[in-house]
Amino acid sequence: MTTPAAKPRVLIVGLGMIGASFAKALCLSQAATVIGLDAQPGVADKARAMGIVDEAVSFPDLNTTFDAVILAVPVLAMGPVLTQLKPWLRADTVISDVGSVKGAVVDAARGALGVLPAGFVPGHPIAGAERSGLAAAKSDLFDHHLLILTPLPTSSAEAVQLLTRLWQSVGADVVTMSVSRHDEVLAATSHLPHLLAFSLVDTLARESENREIFRYAAGGFRDFTRIAASDPTMWHDVFLSNREATLNILRRFQSDLNVLANAIEHREGATLKSVFGRAKSARDYFTEILSSRQRHTDDIRKNLIAAPVRAGLAGAVAVPGDRSISHRAVILAALAEGQSEIRGFGNGHDNRTTLEALRKLGVCIEADDAGCVQVTGVGRRGLKAADSPLYMGNSATSMRLMAGVLSAQSFSSELIGDASLSQRPMDRIQQPLQSMGARIDLSPRKTAPIVIHPAEALKPLDYKMPMASAQVKTALLFAGLCSGVSMRLQEAGPSRNHTEVLLARLGCPVHAEAGVIELASTPQWAGFQCDVPGDFSLAAVHLAAASLVPGSEVTLSGVGVNPSRVGLLDVMGRMGARIEQTNNRDLGGEPVADLQVNYAPLVATEGAADVSGLLIDEYPLLFVLATQAEGVSRFSGVRELRYKETDRLKTMVEGLTTLGADIELKGDAVIIRGRNDQPLDGGIVDCGGDHRVALAYVVAAQTALRPVIIRNSGRVLGAYPDFAEHALALGYSVTVED
Ligand code: S3P
Repeated sequence: MTTPAAKPRVLIVGLGMIGASFAKALCLSQAATVIGLDAQPGVADKARAMGIVDEAVSFPDLNTTFDAVILAVPVLAMGPVLTQLKPWLRADTVISDVGSVKGAVVDAARGALGVLPAGFVPGHPIAGAERSGLAAAKSDLFDHHLLILTPLPTSSAEAVQLLTRLWQSVGADVVTMSVSRHDEVLAATSHLPHLLAFSLVDTLARESENREIFRYAAGGFRDFTRIAASDPTMWHDVFLSNREATLNILRRFQSDLNVLANAIEHREGATLKSVFGRAKSARDYFTEILSSRQRHTDDIRKNLIAAPVRAGLAGAVAVPGDRSISHRAVILAALAEGQSEIRGFGNGHDNRTTLEALRKLGVCIEADDAGCVQVTGVGRRGLKAADSPLYMGNSATSMRLMAGVLSAQSFSSELIGDASLSQRPMDRIQQPLQSMGARIDLSPRKTAPIVIHPAEALKPLDYKMPMASAQVKTALLFAGLCSGVSMRLQEAGPSRNHTEVLLARLGCPVHAEAGVIELASTPQWAGFQCDVPGDFSLAAVHLAAASLVPGSEVTLSGVGVNPSRVGLLDVMGRMGARIEQTNNRDLGGEPVADLQVNYAPLVATEGAADVSGLLIDEYPLLFVLATQAEGVSRFSGVRELRYKETDRLKTMVEGLTTLGADIELKGDAVIIRGRNDQPLDGGIVDCGGDHRVALAYVVAAQTALRPVIIRNSGRVLGAYPDFAEHALALGYSVTVED
């Protein structure tokens, strides 16, 4: 293969609708040089003339070299095509495909190539259209659609990486799963529906004297049968290649259909109502997932344009409820016995994600717009299996905490997430949960989807955590709580302790001292009332901005100032920031205060590694502050930032460098040579969909020379829905661009 930095040469075999769409999008993205090959004479040349491929080749003499080949031919043609291609394949050629069945493609590759090469990673884009052929090529076909890679034990990490990069460059959200899981899932969600659509249209077409009845068919028929216009050859191949999985689900469907037929025959209205009711609720949930996915992707794509402000920032705002506490409170309320009320519940997407997941697990939750959430707890063993995978969007806290809860249940669950979440490490919870006896499968890259199998009884745990992580700590405590076993967790460094605070408040036997948390076997807890303090991490944005802009004076009321969260206050204090706490009070064990911040010139500081967990989410802001502080700042032990919504070390170093900062990454430390006499410049930066990075750039823009355009930053609006309103109230200059 060529060096990773060079543009890879990608051969696409089969320029039908899918192959041509991928070729067209890849060409446009400039991520690769695209070479087209098609069995039909003239098609590849036509594709080149249309600008769909960069080069056209044909068999028998390919007369070209390539780093990767993507087979976009019908599944049954994969074997013969690979046999033909064999002379041109090198040991490290990356080989993938777009087939709807993966087991058969693996068999075909084994048959054609003898062994499964390290470069072979089957793939499947979940996107399509009923039209076929070159003319139907659509460059946005894969945009924000899933692309499933099914790496094999033989697949190399480099091959997976290259394919991930290629598909991401055409806008796809890349996820991985096993070959057998892929074939089962697709049999149920795609192959069976196609079979039913083909069959229904055929039945009606044959039964009617003529096709006249279709004139009377309304929207229902149209929606249900749209896919019967798909390519018959392709589907013939799919069913013959995925026989077992499709037959399994088809037989289950036939028997369910018989139940309905019997119910109709014997006038069993209750059966009909219960089946239809269940189906409606599942379909409503599906609609919600689809629209929330759409909302998320719409949001992400937006750009924020933040301009330097002329006068100081001024005013007072109350930031939304703390995200971490809201997740914990609603989960513990769902698992409590009886009624709970949570006031000031966080209004961001991530908190909504946890709430929806709990609803899907059978918990009745009512939430109003003012952040008051009423939960009817089902008890720690009272959750019900969800009828489809739980979609955790972008929220690692939802995913990890719920994985802890679900590991201790007697039913199986599957947790899935968006493209960013699907890249984040999940073995950090899998390993300790497994040593408690939980049964958890991850993708080969140790990421979501997380498949959790039913657990018998979990065992007590004595565990030394390898990283400072409140999510891991909480996932384990939740598993312990649900199964009533004791545990002893030794922290690698301090991390937020909201779980411990809340558990103590609920009367659970938890004891935390000197980095060791002990939970004794816990009886069922009762419903509770809880007020969530304002989110310190959101308040921190304004603390940072007001500290930078001369003349600023901003008050943030009702902010949570739990010592395990406010490491930033210490560091900013050392830098000379002027932040005062007033009106200190206690909200159910969580300390709360009003914070007043005034502009102050800043000096550089050292950020110690052993307390990095106390300000983990605030580092992007701190890096921005350090660029404007006098002297050299050094923040060590910040490796965990690599595993957030983006690799925050990379995104921050890249973006701040673009804005003219002197910032350097040395191992796990960030070194910033501050220039408080020289402002940052404006420019275009990309936050990669990471809202904390985006907000840090908004802060950077406040004292920059020119506006900063923050690409893919729309998630700020989901994570901090009041942001635009608060920014306006305090005098920021920020606009949202679609
Ligand atoms: C969180 C813990 C932190 C933090 C995240 C929220 C929590 O993650 O970055 O935003 O609510 O427990 P880690 O525990 O992975 O550090």
